[in-house]
Amino acid sequence: MSLTVERSDARPWADADLEPLFEGAFPAFITADQAAKAYVGRVREWFAGLNIIAVEDGRIPVATGWAVPVRWDGSLPGLPAGYTDTLRRAVAAHETGQRPDTLVICGGIVHPERTGQGLAAHLLTALCGLAPQAGCQRILAPVRPTLKPAYPLIPIETFARWTRPDGAPLDPWLRTHWRLGGTIIATAPRSQTMTGTVAEWEAWTGMALPATGDYVIPHGLSILHIDTEQDRGSYTEPNVWVRHR
Ligand SMILES: CC(C)(COP(=O)(O)OP(=O)(O)OC[C@H]1O[C@@H](n2cnc3c(N)ncnc32)[C@H](O)[C@@H]1OP(=O)(O)O)[C@@H](O)C(=O)NCCC(=O)NCCS
Repeated sequence: MSLTVERSDARPWADADLEPLFEGAFPAFITADQAAKAYVGRVREWFAGLNIIAVEDGRIPVATGWAVPVRWDGSLPGLPAGYTDTLRRAVAAHETGQRPDTLVICGGIVHPERTGQGLAAHLLTALCGLAPQAGCQRILAPVRPTLKPAYPLIPIETFARWTRPDGAPLDPWLRTHWRLGGTIIATAPRSQTMTGTVAEWEAWTGMALPATGDYVIPHGLSILHIDTEQDRGSYTEPNVWVRHR
């Protein structure tokens, strides 16, 4: 078995090749961040060189991840508000010709049949390795903790501090970052806000949402608020800021 890492656009991929990688990676509501939608096209185009894919035996995509470059002064108050604000800042810096100094790892996916085998560490290492070519000295990640849906009512500030007896973060994805030398430096309680009509939320969650109120939803890192009078559901997702060396 050989593993190579290349730009995601290095060759044309058939949908059938990529589907197993992306299918089920995130809940349906992940695309309901209306603010992020405004930036994603420019991000894909301008930072295509920071979007990579790990390929097994020259033909099987087994992991993918992407990053954007931003300016960050290195201070906690200077951090982006989260994922969406990171995209906004990356686009703004590019548009105004500011030189970026910080690579922000925005996402990573490992093929569902290949998790727990070290591919995530390989992917993160490859993403961190993109920093010099992006002109960046610092590396950040607004980490979306994969165990958080089991604790949707717990504030992210509390969850981010939970550790195992060996001192490693309780959350598996935070743990992978931590094992590679990443440090939790802050939380981002309002990293992304997803909105939609009640019918859309019913489709995304597979739940009936008959009344105004707060709901625990499948795969939700926090709670969904439904307002039936306004025909609107709103869900704000927290992340954890990790700084890599
Ligand atoms: C998050 C993700 C990239 C991690 O990939 P991974 O290959 O599981 O990562 P690792 O191999 O580093 O595993 C991390 C830990 O989870 C455990 N783990 C992995 N897969 C598991 C599974 N199916 N069941 C139980 N534990 C699992 C690993 O054993 C490891 O635990 P350890 O620290 O005790 O050794 C992957 O699960 C994924 O693609 N998820 C969907 C997309 C996503 O949520 N991405 C992150 C936000 S952008």
